[in-house]
Amino acid sequence: MKKIFLVLSALFIGLTTLNAQSTMQNTKKNFDKQAVITPLPVLIIATYDANGNPDAMNAAWGGQCGPKHIVFELSAHQTTENIRLKKAFTVSFADKKHVTESDYFGVVSAKKEPNKIKKAGMSVTKSSFVDAPVINEYPLTVECKVITFDEDGRGGARVVGEIVNMQADESILDENGNIDLGKMEPIMYDSSKHYYRVIGEKVGNAFSDGKKIK
Ligand SMILES: Cc1cc2nc3c(=O)[nH]c(=O)nc-3n(C[C@H](O)[C@H](O)[C@H](O)COP(=O)(O)O)c2cc1C
Repeated sequence: MKKIFLVLSALFIGLTTLNAQSTMQNTKKNFDKQAVITPLPVLIIATYDANGNPDAMNAAWGGQCGPKHIVFELSAHQTTENIRLKKAFTVSFADKKHVTESDYFGVVSAKKEPNKIKKAGMSVTKSSFVDAPVINEYPLTVECKVITFDEDGRGGARVVGEIVNMQADESILDENGNIDLGKMEPIMYDSSKHYYRVIGEKVGNAFSDGKKIK
């Protein structure tokens, strides 16, 4: 009798698990390919043109690859021409305080509005490390020299930059002098809805929480 009970219990648990799994599968919907990898960053690339005029553009198709390198997929923009010429750029991380300005840098080209940065109410200082401007109002900026510039044949390019310096405003540092993203409030691009979202609360410890599972 006890044996039958145990077999029936095991069967019941098995069926329930199977059912839960198939329910999970059934709630998933298939989509055509679309950009949804998250978080997509809101990177503001700043460059100088041939006359030393500063420009800024918003880029989501990019990211850090290893501790020293940043990669971008750029179409034919004024920024792309500037990087091709100067072999240098800076990257600032758009924050909650500057959502409107950051989006402006992504919807207006310097080809139409050469005073883009000034018009957005922002200002620049020349980097001491590379031939590119640092936008003063963003709290965190990396300064990069170009190491590869792969032309796409349509005026665009895949660009890899090496980070030669990083500067952070004191307002985003914690008591130990480290960058505190909670203070900085960087934003991300939500490509599924075309929203900007603030990167939020801390929910865990990397390289550590997973060790709880034995
Ligand atoms: C959220 C967002 C993300 C963007 N990401 C990219 C990108 O990764 N690569 C790109 O070539 N253009 C991207 N753009 C478009 C450029 O930022 C835009 O064409 C800009 O006006 C170019 O400026 P410029 O001609 O002054 O360089 C993005 C625009 C927005 C609003």
